[in-house]
Amino acid sequence: MTVPVSEGLLSFFMNNKGRWTQRWLDYFPVYERHFAPFKNSAVTVLEIGVNKGGSLAMWRDYFGPEATIIGVDINESCRILENDGFLIEIGDQADSAFWDGFKQRHPKVDILIDDGGHWMQQQIVTFRCMFPHISENGIYLCEDVLTSYWAKFGGGLGRSGTFIEMTKSLIDELNQWQILAIGEPPTEFTKSCASIHCYTGIVVFEKASRSIPRAAISSAGKVIVLPPGQA
Ligand SMILES: C[S@@+](CC[C@H](N)C(=O)[O-])C[C@H]1O[C@@H](n2cnc3c(N)ncnc32)[C@H](O)[C@@H]1O
Repeated sequence: MTVPVSEGLLSFFMNNKGRWTQRWLDYFPVYERHFAPFKNSAVTVLEIGVNKGGSLAMWRDYFGPEATIIGVDINESCRILENDGFLIEIGDQADSAFWDGFKQRHPKVDILIDDGGHWMQQQIVTFRCMFPHISENGIYLCEDVLTSYWAKFGGGLGRSGTFIEMTKSLIDELNQWQILAIGEPPTEFTKSCASIHCYTGIVVFEKASRSIPRAAISSAGKVIVLPPGQA
């Protein structure tokens, strides 16, 4: 989806007279594509990485007054953003115990944006803890996954243990229904992830409740749905 600069998130960013924020410009069409259905609704948006609060203000402007905007940061000074109507949680995104407590306090998260520390362990622990917690039909967006290729963040091309390498294996897991033949049962991820979108610097996971895919034959006004596993 292409949104003119005069509208939407890019307009906010280009005309921002408020708090500091930094983005790769090619992220904006990605946000619009996946976030537009949630505009002006009672959506709960969680962003990891608050810093000065510039992007929290951008999400508020975009999603509207009914949205709940939660920011997570390791830096205690980010609490000051509570004065601007944001919910702020202080913790380490690489600490699964932090997420256990977070989930108790925030039972509903519809959209998660990971713009935190960008280290492999931080991105992967956050994904493992929080992807199952995202609402059905919600969005999990991890940005700056280019660090998967940067040695100073623990990355490297093809290196095991990076967010990108994890994503590659999740593509197999998404298709696990089709590889039942080799004895791998579908996982919770298989049953709850609708799609994986890879962009330059961003991976987006869309959630949906799924069951075993069924093939069907359509001919002469009749549709025959085949048993699971037949095509
Ligand atoms: C790129 S900045 C966030 C920028 C912000 N989203 C914006 O656009 O205005 C990254 C933030 O992640 C926070 N951070 C770094 N490591 C973290 C960790 N382990 N857990 C939570 N937050 C972390 C930093 O304190 C910093 O504020």
